[in-house]
Amino acid sequence: MTSDDRIKNIVVLGGGTAGWMSAAYLGKALGRSVNITVLEAPAIPKIGVGEATIPNLQKVFFDFLGLSEEEWMPECNASFKMGIRFVNWRTGGAGEAQPRPHGTGLDRFDHLFGLLPEHDNLPLSHYWTYKRSQGATDEPFDRACYVQPAIFDKKLSPRHMDGTKWASYAWHFDAHLVADFLRRFATKQQGAVHIEDRFTGAEVDQNGHIAAITTEAGLRLEADLFIDCSGFRSLLINQVMKEPFLDMSDHLLNDRAVATQVPHDDETDGIEPFTSAIAMSSGWTWKIPLLGRFGTGYVYSSRFATQDEATEEFCRMWNLDPEKRPLNHIRFRVGRNRRAWVKNCVGIGLSSCFLEPLESTGIYFTYAALYQLVKHFPDKRFDPVLMDRFNREIENMFDDTRDFIQAHFSFAPRDDTPFWRACKELELADGFKEKVALYKSGLGVNLPVTDEGNYYGNFEAEFRNFWSNANYYCVFAGLDVLPEHSMPLLSHRPDSIESAEAVFAEVGRRRDELLNTLPSTYAYLRHLHGK
Ligand code: TRP
Repeated sequence: MTSDDRIKNIVVLGGGTAGWMSAAYLGKALGRSVNITVLEAPAIPKIGVGEATIPNLQKVFFDFLGLSEEEWMPECNASFKMGIRFVNWRTGGAGEAQPRPHGTGLDRFDHLFGLLPEHDNLPLSHYWTYKRSQGATDEPFDRACYVQPAIFDKKLSPRHMDGTKWASYAWHFDAHLVADFLRRFATKQQGAVHIEDRFTGAEVDQNGHIAAITTEAGLRLEADLFIDCSGFRSLLINQVMKEPFLDMSDHLLNDRAVATQVPHDDETDGIEPFTSAIAMSSGWTWKIPLLGRFGTGYVYSSRFATQDEATEEFCRMWNLDPEKRPLNHIRFRVGRNRRAWVKNCVGIGLSSCFLEPLESTGIYFTYAALYQLVKHFPDKRFDPVLMDRFNREIENMFDDTRDFIQAHFSFAPRDDTPFWRACKELELADGFKEKVALYKSGLGVNLPVTDEGNYYGNFEAEFRNFWSNANYYCVFAGLDVLPEHSMPLLSHRPDSIESAEAVFAEVGRRRDELLNTLPSTYAYLRHLHGK
């Protein structure tokens, strides 16, 4: 056996959330045959305080590390999230033109985690569309097909008091605490080496590979593979390897945020088990409930609002005094590097790609890239087939999500400000237009495939068709963009249409049962955090 070609040393540049997620994940996947060193500059401010995630974080990241929710959640001030509540995306809060008898009467809709119920091999969305096209229902899609919207209204928990989970859910947490937690895990349990020092430069060999990076204290760190987790500065992949960053501001207008933390009385007001995305005059505001406070930030376009205007609108909404309140002003670049992996350098996290956090995909992008890196892990020969494949996976993941996020802005009915009007002028990518056409045809987009028996275990399914039928329906129907007609096949199946009524009725029955038996999110989290 020749094992000489094996990668033996990995240096991770940057100790933010991406840096420590990388160290822990690679440490687990590669075992002790590889030495992992993390170079973290002291006192570099880390971006991201209140972060929202998606459900597969547990299965494909924490379970992979062998860490249960009960272990990591209390260390990271984590709360639950069953989806995103979109507020004011249709009318800007001016009120509905058509009051909705079964809705809340307010301009909101929910994008929920989890699969749709099925009936006769079709998702319930298709029966809802049929009923809707017949004028047989005026119930909005989310409330007709899911129990969660009513549970959100009452701020109830995704788990019963005995710990049983009844819904698919994700987490809100403090990303600094996650980075700290993973640093302890990687250094104490996996043997990662932590060096606190500043990056000063890189040495590149005659093949264009990075041979070593140097530090302010005079260290020279050699490695076979370098992971760039240096954030927006992208010190290795952009600055040393000179890989171009592809700017995508022709798809998405937002490029700034103003963010803060707001104290919250959980006992009196409860804890919302969802993220809110509230449309604003030149962008939108996130609200991420944690324990005792919520993180919030207005993501806006500098073409349509100045920093002062955005700050004023943001502080007015939450009733904050902009003079006294510590505000974090963030500029970001939207897009990705042309290639995420170049020679012996892989960008993970913000150094690689960034999209506004509208669909909570930031942390997902980090562990999805780690999964792909492990699957396509090289040896010292750096086979270009592995690298090209990896790069294509990252491209698809990113571009698909970019298009889906762009659709939120393009399809939002509101056109009351220059920002919202400008969103409608932006061109959608051709591949995405096809998906929209499929949705409009009544066929649905990326129906979930449940066959999970492939070589890479259950994980592979988690990364394929990431945006599936339920995601399209929640968001598009929520924005009042409906299929032009229902799936033609359904009109040949009157029996299925009739028996689907029992499935709709079951959604209502189950909802009422849950409303009567679930604890509040506040009560459950208090118990989980031992408070
Ligand atoms: N496949 C992802 C999921 O359902 C899609 C997703 C990303 C999503 N962000 C979301 C779904 C926010 C609902 C809300 O987990």
